[in-house]
Amino acid sequence: MNVVTRAPAPDLAAIRAQFPILSETIRGKKLVFLDSAASAQKPRAVIEAMVHAMEHQYANVHRGLHWMSERATEAYEGTRDAVARLINARDRHEIVFTGNSTGAINLLAHSYGRGVLKPGQAVVISGMEHHSNIVPWQMLRDAHGIELRVAPITDAGELDFPAFEDLLRDGRVGLVAITHMSNVLGTYTPAERIVAVAHAHGAKVMFDGSQAIVHRRVDVQALDADFYVFTGHKLYGPTGIGVLWGRRELLEAMPPFMGGGDMISSVSYERSTWAEVPHKFEAGTPAILESIGLGAAIGFVESIGYGAIAAHEASLTDHALARLGGIEGVNVIGRAQDRGGVVSFTLDRAHAHDVATLLDRQGIAVRAGHHCAEPLMRRLGLDSTARASFGIYTTHEEIDALADALTRVREFFA
Ligand code: ALA
Repeated sequence: MNVVTRAPAPDLAAIRAQFPILSETIRGKKLVFLDSAASAQKPRAVIEAMVHAMEHQYANVHRGLHWMSERATEAYEGTRDAVARLINARDRHEIVFTGNSTGAINLLAHSYGRGVLKPGQAVVISGMEHHSNIVPWQMLRDAHGIELRVAPITDAGELDFPAFEDLLRDGRVGLVAITHMSNVLGTYTPAERIVAVAHAHGAKVMFDGSQAIVHRRVDVQALDADFYVFTGHKLYGPTGIGVLWGRRELLEAMPPFMGGGDMISSVSYERSTWAEVPHKFEAGTPAILESIGLGAAIGFVESIGYGAIAAHEASLTDHALARLGGIEGVNVIGRAQDRGGVVSFTLDRAHAHDVATLLDRQGIAVRAGHHCAEPLMRRLGLDSTARASFGIYTTHEEIDALADALTRVREFFA
């Protein structure tokens, strides 16, 4: 069972009506979209905000003194305020826009990794990371002499906390970079405990919140985290916009990542000086329209409220675990106590790609493969899983449709 506090059910019909794509039919069948963890669908508010900006308020930001540029800048910077409000940042200057979570983690690995961490220090990740929270640290390890340590997971798919703490004991860990919710197992990591233990051993903590922030409220001050990253497109916003939040003093101590326009205070051939945070990290024309879309997505999420979102998705997850767990030959992967709206599974005698293809024939969209988490797959002794993932618009009937379709797929392979 999920451990989320229940709140009143949201008005699902009204929510679904805000997503034009949900009325699409696929090969004559109503779309059952169970791939929101890869990228969520977009509500009309996001679509309209971006179209409105292009039709009425578009110019480059931070550069012009004219009316259009001022309006575009207000809208772009307004999203920084919305993000700060969403995650309860102390200060809007702590919000850095990036292209996505991958961009945010690469920024951190380059800038904090090379500029603040010292060769001989270590970075700890976990055994359930997405490639985007593995590869940038490997690149840092190879370029800068940083040790990369991997905290193992248990057979249930949870962080092996004693083993994690052991990795911190020698005091050489400068940063823990860890998922807040696994994109494969659905596991929420024990974020407050991670921070407490890491800080006690002198390490900073970055959470990859790409999945977590979609399903539950994130409060970076309550977490006492140092960095938090997420992406817009999983949070009902557009692609091309992500966020790195960092404590202001940490961001100020970090050198810039990319050089160019808009990130400088002054430039001469001899030397350049940097703009204040966050602009120091936002070189070049930014994702203006995408930022405006993200602002609308945040408004959409706030209009429903995380209490209702978390309760609905916990109920969906419980229903999915019960329905899929009741089908002979279906193996649900991961048994974490605290989990979000992602359920991975395999089917005996069938490859996950074939399962996904046969589900697609029945109008049901799931993701199949290694989910950009190959080391985790190896730990699980698998090469792939099929994965159903839920959003605020997902219904219990859609999960029933998945279970019924999966029963037919199983009969096909039997
Ligand atoms: N990270 C995304 C997923 O898990 C793409 O599907």
